[in-house]
Amino acid sequence: MSAFKTVRGMRDFLPEEAEIMRFIERKARETASLYGYREIITPVVESYELVAAKAGEEVRARMYAFEDLGGRKVALRPEFTASVARLVATTLRNEPKPLRLFCVGSLYRYDEPQRGRFREFWQSNFELMGSDKPEADAEILLLTNHFMKSVGLKNFTFKVGHVGVLRSILSHEGLAEEVQNQAMQRMDKKLYEEALKIAEENGASDKCLKTLQKLVNLKGDDAAKILEEMAEIVKDYREAVEAVKNLREIINLVVETDEKVKITVDAGFARGLEYYTGMIFEVYVPELDIALAGGGRYNKLVELFGGEPTPAVGVAHGIDRIMLALQEQRAKIDLKREMGVVVVPVSENLAAEALRIAEMLRAEKIPVEFEVMGRKVSKALEDADRREAGYVIIVGEKELKENAVVLRDMQKKEQTTVKIGNLVEVLRHLRI
Ligand code: HAM
Repeated sequence: MSAFKTVRGMRDFLPEEAEIMRFIERKARETASLYGYREIITPVVESYELVAAKAGEEVRARMYAFEDLGGRKVALRPEFTASVARLVATTLRNEPKPLRLFCVGSLYRYDEPQRGRFREFWQSNFELMGSDKPEADAEILLLTNHFMKSVGLKNFTFKVGHVGVLRSILSHEGLAEEVQNQAMQRMDKKLYEEALKIAEENGASDKCLKTLQKLVNLKGDDAAKILEEMAEIVKDYREAVEAVKNLREIINLVVETDEKVKITVDAGFARGLEYYTGMIFEVYVPELDIALAGGGRYNKLVELFGGEPTPAVGVAHGIDRIMLALQEQRAKIDLKREMGVVVVPVSENLAAEALRIAEMLRAEKIPVEFEVMGRKVSKALEDADRREAGYVIIVGEKELKENAVVLRDMQKKEQTTVKIGNLVEVLRHLRI
């Protein structure tokens, strides 16, 4: 490994990529404020125990975990949810509910680097704490829909399921939570045979295995039809029937808006994280086979961290993958890069005066790039041209005596003399 390369799985964001990332982040912030979510900033380093608690086998095994110099077992956060639940269990314990919290930042997982899979990646994360009503689940789906639309994504679909359906059937058969987790992990990877085998080896009845088999084969975008079939398949399991009812209520709330949200219901859908207790979902676009976002309901996590029983539902949007999807869809992103003016002193002894003018313009919110290379005016103009500057201000001795500078329009290749006192107004008029 060369010391002068990025570490495997890590990336630099060059200006254009950084701008797109920040554009997506800005849209996430706008979504947060539209839906009433307030930002919190939590540490990148958390106690290993906290982030490992319900992360699931896969995330747990891929954690950047180490002992700090004080001998504490810590980890770089692989997600935000554990940190937010920690806060709600402790410092924010007595806050009135509902509590709507938003975070954005980088996460770390030692995943195998591939397209759209990085070891450092970025999420915008929304958690809605304190409600177990379907309206809360619907809100998380709708804000995700809003966000995806606002960044300019097209043709995205929600894949929706409910872990309560699968888990309540396994519980009914007396399967321990640990065994359920193993089966769900396999289902998450679509290894249905293996999942069923785990259930069978742990004493699941024939009837249960047949029910599970039917469920994992059931999915489609006619939500009403799939939900009806689901209800029929699980009719002998009371809690599973309730779970299907809950899923129907959530989906109905979403489809009854005018938003035309595209939903695929997948009865055998599971997610790797172990804290989910209810509705779960992911977002996909046809151009990529990896999820752009994932989330769901987790009603037991805050309690597990010592807090009050607090029903919760949330989502994390993968900013890197959204960026990739936008590139795949050749989306036009309006980055509105402001190319301001370039200020060029004719000679070095005018640098101080030219800088003073530059600062005066910046104080008026006019973006200015200053000629810091000490080049001759002709060279500085060539460079300004290459960088597509609209205007150049040339600060020369002769004009300064008249309290003026030369303003050059780079497109028209025309120059005028402008009084320094009128410069701001003239530039404003030119819409800089
Ligand atoms: P997750 O499904 O593990 O859920 O991650 C959410 C999103 O983060 C994924 O859909 C993906 O877009 C992005 N992501 C995950 N791993 C990587 C990676 N290695 N490289 C690039 N992007 C990645 C969670 O993290 C939950 N905390 C979501 C949640 C919030 N559930 C309830 N509240």
